[in-house]
Amino acid sequence: MIALRDTVRAGQSALWVNPAYMPANDPVARVDLDRACDDWAMLAPLLARLFPELEASGGRIASDLIPAPAGAFGDHAGTLLIKGDHALPVAGSIKARGGLFEVFMCAVTQARAAGVLAPNAPLTDLADMRDFFAARTIAVGSTGNLGLSVGIAARALGYACVVHMSSDAKPWKVDRLRKLGVEVVLHTADYTTAVAAARDATADDPDSYFVDDESSELLFRGYSAAAAELAAQLDAMGVAIGPDRPLCLYLPCGIGGAPGGIAYGARAMFGAHAHSFFVEPQQSASALCQMAFDAPSVHDLGLSNRTEADGMAVATLSPLVRARMHDRLAGVCTVGDADMLRWVAAGHAHGLQFEPSATAGFAGPQHLMHSAAGKAFRTAHMAHVQPENIVHVVWATGGLFVPDAAHRAFLDAAAALPAALDLPQEITP
Ligand SMILES: Cc1ncc(COP(=O)(O)O)c(C=O)c1O
Repeated sequence: MIALRDTVRAGQSALWVNPAYMPANDPVARVDLDRACDDWAMLAPLLARLFPELEASGGRIASDLIPAPAGAFGDHAGTLLIKGDHALPVAGSIKARGGLFEVFMCAVTQARAAGVLAPNAPLTDLADMRDFFAARTIAVGSTGNLGLSVGIAARALGYACVVHMSSDAKPWKVDRLRKLGVEVVLHTADYTTAVAAARDATADDPDSYFVDDESSELLFRGYSAAAAELAAQLDAMGVAIGPDRPLCLYLPCGIGGAPGGIAYGARAMFGAHAHSFFVEPQQSASALCQMAFDAPSVHDLGLSNRTEADGMAVATLSPLVRARMHDRLAGVCTVGDADMLRWVAAGHAHGLQFEPSATAGFAGPQHLMHSAAGKAFRTAHMAHVQPENIVHVVWATGGLFVPDAAHRAFLDAAAALPAALDLPQEITP
């Protein structure tokens, strides 16, 4: 049997089960989640006013929970559901939940601090304060989708906005931002460099606000509320999560904010009955490298950080997320680009438009149900559960805005691959 470290180094798929994992009720996370939901409810009328696509939902940014077409995304026991953030309104990806939240919360804080928004004034007044926001700048570093969501939010209020894009950013994301009047700075280096450049550029400017993807509490809080949305949807479907019907969540991970926030929220909602796994590209396994091996970057294990899944091309894990996930995260697994492309094609065949990053989660149930490490996890944490009672929720994270030509290129790349999945593989725990 090969050791996990060698498997990761060799760029093969792996499942790491977190030895510090402690499924439990989480009152601290519950308080934070309630606050996040209150904040979103407070922002909703303003969001409805600024984004016509949110009028019908009263300003709620929400996605569908979709039963997966039978057999289309692998073969395993249990119920397979897809959380459809690939079609999330306004920004077309999971990043709407974080980026919009932080920009709008920042706007409220700035307007109140400057005295232009009275404490009891309706937040919808902010929609008419473009001159106030135009004198201020929002900056962010991104692989693409966070930049898109921050740029869209900032420009909707009238802020100036600068997005520092890593070399992984897809040209269409850059074009879309520039059309909105966002200044895009293209870097020839990776995500870490783009974030550092955005941080440096704003450091001495009191009128600039930096959205720090590597350590933002606000982004984390914005994402976390998605777990309450999921709980309501499961409830409406009659799926009662509990000791005999656990929830396994599979969350694509880059720097960790989006999956970390949602995993945190899931603990708040479901306590010991939800098990969250991060899923990463084989060559960008930053959470796995840090949490399993204490390696600061994927480069320390000889990985390239090159992947077709641009949203997850991140070499490090957020320190904030690492700390919050210490005993809350069930594990981390990895997946190859070829399988992600196959799932883009499988989604297309069923009317679901995914980008490669969005599909990583489909690797989760394969690992959990078919690998030796997955079996060990189930024995340790769900020994009495019938496998067919497990509820697998794969979080699909982006794709709505992918232009037809770019989507077609993914489909062509998938068509050139052998049909069979590369997963599962038997992995040493
Ligand atoms: C489509 C998509 N999925 C997943 C992620 C991962 O989110 P995070 O970087 O917060 O871990 C990203 C990040 O940009 C993304 O764009």
